[in-house]
Amino acid sequence: MNAPLKILDIARLREEFPILARDAYGKRLVYLDNAASAQKPRAVIDAMTQTLTRSYANVHRGLHLLSNEATTAFENARKTAARFLNAASPNEIVFTSGGTDAVNLVAYALGASEIGEGDEIILSLMEHHSNIVPWHFLRERKGAKLKWLDISDDGEIDLEAYRSLFTKRTKLVAISHMSNVLGAPTPAKALADIAHEHGAKILFDGCQAAVHGKVDVQAIGCDFYAATGHKLYGPTGVGLLYGRADVLDALPPFRGGGEMIEMVTTDYVTYNDPPHRFEAGTPPIVEAIALGAALDWMERTGLDAIAAHEAALLAHALDELRKLNFVKVYGQAKVKAPIVAFGVDGAHPHDVAAILDRTGVAVRAGHHCAQPLMRRLGVSSTARASFAAYNDHDDVEALIAGLVKAHEMLG
Ligand SMILES: Cc1ncc(COP(=O)(O)O)c(C=O)c1O
Repeated sequence: MNAPLKILDIARLREEFPILARDAYGKRLVYLDNAASAQKPRAVIDAMTQTLTRSYANVHRGLHLLSNEATTAFENARKTAARFLNAASPNEIVFTSGGTDAVNLVAYALGASEIGEGDEIILSLMEHHSNIVPWHFLRERKGAKLKWLDISDDGEIDLEAYRSLFTKRTKLVAISHMSNVLGAPTPAKALADIAHEHGAKILFDGCQAAVHGKVDVQAIGCDFYAATGHKLYGPTGVGLLYGRADVLDALPPFRGGGEMIEMVTTDYVTYNDPPHRFEAGTPPIVEAIALGAALDWMERTGLDAIAAHEAALLAHALDELRKLNFVKVYGQAKVKAPIVAFGVDGAHPHDVAAILDRTGVAVRAGHHCAQPLMRRLGVSSTARASFAAYNDHDDVEALIAGLVKAHEMLG
């Protein structure tokens, strides 16, 4: 029997986020820019402070107490990340500097080993630029061919259209597990199965998906999975790349330097095993340890409980937005994360965001690093409200009140 779903005490949970105690222009801070970056709970701030004030030193080099403590904490964070993504082993987790860095690592390494002139890479039209530009590099430098999968207006994928893009030259699918604009998750297992049927590898950009529900890389069966720390309630400067053990084993390094070598001579160099092969130089020690604390915090709080709370906020927001006949919402898939892109009739999204800001409501406006998607939707930009575990129904009401005001001023 399943355990009953934990109901979050949001008032108590909000107290764990010190920043929420501040105001914005004398008003309650309503932070709805979580898809860009999430705020940090005390557990994460404490992990950083604790490391810097008690156990800081460089890792993997030490014959002394502090280095050993830092190394243990750093490698424990890797174990936590492996558990969080359900990787088979911590050795399948590479610490990167973020989601962008994770994709660049894979693009560089596959470009050096497997993807050459005329080889094909499938991308969707709703990718974030960080899962587009590294592949354009391979197009420019290696002559690889990019093939684009269309999506529905709501960000859903037609698996037959996807299947039809494969040829004998398809080497890789690089696709979002959840759009940062439309909020719809992609059918990860089906996408991975079809890629593998065609002998291609698959990388998921999970920078958004990992925030909003349990990710199980083994159940998906993917080759690579990228996520970023700062959206997972962790610090900036750290991200995660999952790579299946056999795939990482066969992959050449991305950057060269300390830590990633086995032997360096004046004539040749040999490389360390994964994950260290891909972590050249001093890694983001404090950030990785704090990311481990963030993932622990998410698990302790309850991934299902967070998702249920976010679903309630999304339903509330969509209900209220539907009542505003001057608002158009982009992306209304039946199942989606609490990421709501929208436009206000007769108003530029930047002006809407500026007015909301003065009411204390922080949203994003722009192309959201997804220009091909903007073109597909026929807009140059949108506003975007995105919710996190610590948002509450008052935040939804504040957004709606701010939009009414913005429409009065701009519409
Ligand atoms: C879907 C998606 N992919 C990748 C990224 C890039 O993450 P980072 O800026 O942390 O490297 C983001 C961040 O906005 C994102 O939303």
